[in-house]
Amino acid sequence: MHERREFSIRESNIALIGFMGAGKSSVGRLVAKKLYRDFIDIDEEIVKKFGMPITEIFQKLGEEQFRKMERELITHYCTNTRLKILSLGGGAYLQEEVRNVCLTHCIVFFLDLSWDSWKDRLPLIIDSRPILQNKSLPEIEELFFKRREVYSINHSQFVTSNLDPETVAEQMVESLKTAWDTYQPHKD
Ligand code: S3P
Repeated sequence: MHERREFSIRESNIALIGFMGAGKSSVGRLVAKKLYRDFIDIDEEIVKKFGMPITEIFQKLGEEQFRKMERELITHYCTNTRLKILSLGGGAYLQEEVRNVCLTHCIVFFLDLSWDSWKDRLPLIIDSRPILQNKSLPEIEELFFKRREVYSINHSQFVTSNLDPETVAEQMVESLKTAWDTYQPHKD
């Protein structure tokens, strides 16, 4: 059981989850603009904290340090801020603590896409994603489907396969507005 939200869902942060290269940051930036909210890219925050790119953090400090900082930052934004659009790195949500804090304090949107449409993006992202390096395509495919099971724990999901970020962002904003109109806060 998750704790009861103490404020209206209109004020909740929105967390975007999904596999690397699914478009979380591009969509998140657009949604933030449409809703006049701040956009927080957790990966960018981690890079600022350590003062080096992610590949270097993995090489010099190791994945464990990266995950610890990722967990701390997500917990901070989820529990101390409102009205933000948060984009989480693809591995963050695998941590149980991250899942719990997001599901309790945010509206969690999963950006889903088919394996076929994702694999075309691999050459564009592999150099900046240490998790994909030194893996064969079948190994990456296995990771893709394994993680998908975890991402399926969410509040709402969008299939983005052949859609441009603008269309996905528009759909997301529409669905949020419907939810906000449906779940009015209690007036007592
Ligand atoms: C990771 C995803 C990356 C970044 C890091 C680890 C992962 O973020 O956090 O390279 O484990 O899936 P994106 O999902 O934005 O690529």
